[in-house]
Amino acid sequence: MSVALPAASAGAGWPERLYDDGALTPPPRPVDPRASIVFENVSHRYDDGRGGGTEAVADFSATLEPGSFVCLLGPSGCGKSTLLNILAGFEKPTGGQVLVGGRPVLRPGPDRGMVFQEPNLLPWRRVIDNIALGPDLAGRPKKETRRAAKRLMEMTGLSGFENHAPYELSGGMKQRVALARAWISEPPILVMDEPFGALDAQTRISMQELLVDVWLKTGSTILFVTHDVDEALFLADRVIVVTPRPGRVARDVVSPLPRPRVYENLVVDPRFARLKQEIWLTMRRSDYDI
Ligand SMILES: Nc1ncnc2c1ncn2[C@@H]1O[C@H](COP(=O)(O)OP(=O)(O)OP(=O)(O)O)[C@@H](O)[C@H]1O
Ligand SMILES: [Mg+2]
Repeated sequence: MSVALPAASAGAGWPERLYDDGALTPPPRPVDPRASIVFENVSHRYDDGRGGGTEAVADFSATLEPGSFVCLLGPSGCGKSTLLNILAGFEKPTGGQVLVGGRPVLRPGPDRGMVFQEPNLLPWRRVIDNIALGPDLAGRPKKETRRAAKRLMEMTGLSGFENHAPYELSGGMKQRVALARAWISEPPILVMDEPFGALDAQTRISMQELLVDVWLKTGSTILFVTHDVDEALFLADRVIVVTPRPGRVARDVVSPLPRPRVYENLVVDPRFARLKQEIWLTMRRSDYDI
């Protein structure tokens, strides 16, 4: 279900973004019960081996509903990537735990797809083979996997680039390959660490729209890290503002903004402006208060 943005007609009011069936509310979609995430009093300290270290996260708790889109927003160094790495199973917390689908995370698993700021494509694999990496490593049938990869290439606007090498793509295209590579395994949870940070503003908005369109189809839970308040408000059902290090929850805001969201309309919506102001006030206060 792609969402079309009709041409703005002069004087005819703001363009509305409609779903395929002409509705203004997202159609119901299946939600995967394995996709719940609970951060339970998570703390993390990096020891330097010389008796010192860095307290990156302190007593961070949050429960994410299956199928929700949650953004983590906070200043550089506040522990956002640390939290994502703990959720992904790359790092063990020094306190508390993370539960996925009710079970403690002990190691990485195919139920959690990761997308990072850098696309990290394998330069020796063609685009389609980069997308198919996960199923190939899992020994899934090649033909079926290539069919799925082709479908994802269509969805992400990459058709025609199947046989290209990664170096022949633009930055935005590489990031679309990284997204398709995460999506091909249909993970119930998608963990994204500033995936659009390096893109220009226009490509970034297209990627945000693409992400929301696919998220609405898949029913996955997305935990998305960003520095950008507008990006968080465009994407999320809920924005968790994190304090400066050690990271704790400074503010947990459920978005009142309806979907589908049209960027051009959103930025002049008084609810958007109010929320943006509140989040900025929280971030500025937590610089020195919390
Ligand atoms: N592997 C590591 N070893 C030691 N210290 C680390 C390690 N990774 C992160 N840190 C420290 O933990 C703190 C939090 O880092 P983290 O990468 O989680 O922050 P962040 O919120 O993701 O920042 P940014 O927005 O800049 O990506 C920082 O002070 C950092 O120096
Ligand atoms: Mg980070």
